[in-house]
Amino acid sequence: MTAGHEPLVSVENLSVEFHTDAGVVKAVDGVSWSISPGETLGIVGESGSGKSVSALALMGLLQKPQAKISGRILFRGRDLLAAGEQELRSLRGKDVSMIFQDPLSALNPVFKVGHQVAEVIQAHEKIGRIPARKRAVELLDEVGIPNPRQRAQEYPHQYSGGMRQRAMIAMALALDPALLLADEPTTALDVTVQAQIMSLLSKLQEERGTAIVLITHDLGVVAGHADRVLVMYAGRVAETAGADAIFHAPRHPYTLGLLTSLARLDRRRTDRLRPIPGQPPSLIRVPPGCAFHPRCAFATDQCHIDVPPLTGGAAHAAACHHQDRVAEARAEVIEV
Ligand SMILES: Nc1ncnc2c1ncn2[C@@H]1O[C@H](COP(=O)(O)OP(=O)(O)OP(=O)(O)O)[C@@H](O)[C@H]1O
Ligand SMILES: [Mg+2]
Repeated sequence: MTAGHEPLVSVENLSVEFHTDAGVVKAVDGVSWSISPGETLGIVGESGSGKSVSALALMGLLQKPQAKISGRILFRGRDLLAAGEQELRSLRGKDVSMIFQDPLSALNPVFKVGHQVAEVIQAHEKIGRIPARKRAVELLDEVGIPNPRQRAQEYPHQYSGGMRQRAMIAMALALDPALLLADEPTTALDVTVQAQIMSLLSKLQEERGTAIVLITHDLGVVAGHADRVLVMYAGRVAETAGADAIFHAPRHPYTLGLLTSLARLDRRRTDRLRPIPGQPPSLIRVPPGCAFHPRCAFATDQCHIDVPPLTGGAAHAAACHHQDRVAEARAEVIEV
């Protein structure tokens, strides 16, 4: 890797376990990825695959000792898992910030939106109340909130879902972080507003050179937005590759399943829309061998026993014993 293309963040062999009364939840199990400045990495997987937990680990927001974390999370070479609370607090918001999955829980209902955005700025910068409020209004304007001066004086419940999401983005970008973790930033929104929010994120990213980790259960959301994609299943990496390869040459049956279950406007009626059968496993009792085998049309005896290693190299890797057969099936399933 050449200088200047140093990753901003490298996650190395990250594992997170929760010790609960029902047993040990292996929420994240040996996951590695990295992201460079200005890049967008999509992290995709069904509900409960460990996407949010990975992001919360990076933010230093998992409660210890209940959460047992191992591996390394290097931010500009510094291991965040070894950092103290003080250091993490100064890093959060300023270097790494997050748009949380549930905007209502992240916005405080009893404070005006402008006040909340100003508070983020004041928590990190020596800036007076009035200039901070002015900056807040500018930020609301920048994320496309109409009449921002007046809207800044309103409470979160007076905002529509799309507006709240814009306010969240304003808060997350207030300090111009190098990395933005966007956890399901558009899930609660209708399709039109989804598209507006995604293009807003792209525009802000272009202007600021922000690296974005885009977390979603919907492979459709990462299409056209992510440079690279990490597909997670049951806390592990199923496949990782450039976005083009994920869409056009997937090597894991789970990725193929996500693709064929995508509702696409350009899909002909004769093309079958096939959801992946079954449910993701409980992370307390992950199936032996390949965790995906109970739902996989390609599974053989080997898949019930041997955990498939991630093979193929840095550019495109998949954890499947039958990658060649997936490639053949891709060619048959959907024409592009
Ligand atoms: N604090 C916790 N204690 C125990 N288990 C937890 C805790 N937080 C998360 N989990 C479990 O860890 C697993 C991964 O959760 P995570 O929130 O990362 O899923 P996700 O991929 O973000 O799913 P979704 O798409 O629904 O947001 C789940 O099985 C979840 O129940
Ligand atoms: Mg989540």
